[in-house]
Amino acid sequence: MTKSNSISKRVYGRGSAPGKIILLGEHAVVYGRPAIAVPVSDVRAHATVQPGRHGTGIVIHALDIGRHYLLDAVPPTDPIACVIREVLAHCGLPSHLDIDITITSDIPIASGMGSGAAVATAVVRALATALACPLDDAMVSEIVYKSETLLHGTPSGIDNTVVAYERPIWFVRGRPPAPFSVGGTFHLLIADTGVPSPTRTTVGDVRMAWERDTERYEALFDAIGELVQAARSALQQGDALHLGTLMQRNHTLLREMGVSAEANDRLVEAALEAGAYGAKLSGGGRGGNVIALVAEEQRAPVAHALEAAGAVRLLSTTLTPEDAP
Ligand code: PMV
Repeated sequence: MTKSNSISKRVYGRGSAPGKIILLGEHAVVYGRPAIAVPVSDVRAHATVQPGRHGTGIVIHALDIGRHYLLDAVPPTDPIACVIREVLAHCGLPSHLDIDITITSDIPIASGMGSGAAVATAVVRALATALACPLDDAMVSEIVYKSETLLHGTPSGIDNTVVAYERPIWFVRGRPPAPFSVGGTFHLLIADTGVPSPTRTTVGDVRMAWERDTERYEALFDAIGELVQAARSALQQGDALHLGTLMQRNHTLLREMGVSAEANDRLVEAALEAGAYGAKLSGGGRGGNVIALVAEEQRAPVAHALEAAGAVRLLSTTLTPEDAP
């Protein structure tokens, strides 16, 4: 019996990974200021590895999109094929194992929630477990980063880090992303405006505006950088009231930068009126998601207000000190 056959008879593994959102600092992060991203653990990608049934090699079943394909039949640029090959190489195993990898995810796609990174992370974890080849979070993140480069060209590395560590991440471009722990419980609501979020467009528009009026935009970025610093302390101290104020100021600065839209402002206002500590757009802006920080008892009224104001999908997540190992 070959090594690959003996492995494929006993493999079985599961892996999962959360979605993510940017809490503060988007856009300014492109200009060297810090940003904070947090995991959204209530929506997840899942992967299962089982012995193959057909003796055909590695078969990937992407159930949500109804796609079933052989690893060897897709180009090496396929992000899932990429992470599978990386894990096998790292663990010193051949790529002709007979296994089935099944993937599902309830993370909204193409909405700044890191669904690609989460799916890749779930696959890496399931495979590593099945092959009895333990990988630490840093290694998982490094492998997933490779698939992110196939999807996004030159990704910042924030998505694979926050998803692999499942902890808040302090991020400054060009430096290794730093996971950190929160010192209290923070309840977040994530409301989709229903307006597709053209991150590329808003990033380009900010670039043009910055070129026209560098001084003003640099001042806006500096102000955001300062409040992101303060937000890290608020998170570490468990101070939701202060964090809410900082998120609110961040939204105002993003508006001044020209990346908000009526749909974002409407949801932000609704959340505040219903008693949120703070609310802001998250990610590229001009649509996409709005996030609201709420006390536990405000979660239901704020969620209701967001829906009444036109949110097309609502998610909620909670950051707790237990998120840290
Ligand atoms: O929506 P997301 O999570 O892809 O965030 C975009 C964040 C920006 O700062 C607007 C762009 C970037 O590349 O950092």
